[in-house]
Amino acid sequence: MKRYISPSILAADFNDLEKEIRKINNSNATWIHCDVMDGVFVPNISFGVPVIEAISRIAEKPLDVHLMIVEPAKYIDKFCSIGLDILTIHQEACSHLQRGIQQIKENGVKAGVSLSPHTPVTTLTDVIEDLDLVLIMSVNPGFGGQKFIENTYRKVGELKNMIEKSNSNALIQVDGGITMQNARQLFDSGVNILVTGTTVFKSNDPAKTVDELLAV
Ligand code: DX5
Ligand code: ZN
Repeated sequence: MKRYISPSILAADFNDLEKEIRKINNSNATWIHCDVMDGVFVPNISFGVPVIEAISRIAEKPLDVHLMIVEPAKYIDKFCSIGLDILTIHQEACSHLQRGIQQIKENGVKAGVSLSPHTPVTTLTDVIEDLDLVLIMSVNPGFGGQKFIENTYRKVGELKNMIEKSNSNALIQVDGGITMQNARQLFDSGVNILVTGTTVFKSNDPAKTVDELLAV
């Protein structure tokens, strides 16, 4: 199975974001992961549309945008207009999840849904065939640099079963606390894409770290 890395720019040096993006442009990463936080859905505020627009002008990799905001439906069209490859919304933030997924797809963007650590995989049973990606959070959303939650492996197994038993082509993404130590077990359990903030951007050579993660 193909392996993908999506570095999260939340851990990048914001004083020199252009240089940081160029490091990822010159790497074997597949996407650039952008974490949008509103200070309501999660206890932290990061950045929004203007910053992602600026990133999109220099990024040579498609953007993978992870919305950690309440009422994401209000902002889906705006985010999709930037030219994203994939937009992921949180199950816990949507009263009408199926509608949100359709709204993303109507914009010609791939649709992802994310589950926080407390949310069971079974909450996606009725939408799994509509999804291009499921993001399993392996930390509580809101901050980079947190410790990986071990229950993630069990959830990945459950999600893999659900996808195989349905007609879904959804990719499995895991986000939070990814290190050189847990990457292999995650890929071996069926994860397609690992999101890595700290491990990639706080390393001396982000492009080399991406290669090392791909080769674990
Ligand atoms: C957390 C974000 C993650 C985070 C990952 O809410 O969704 O993408 O940036 O950072 P690390 O890899 O440092 O855990
Ligand atoms: Zn994220």
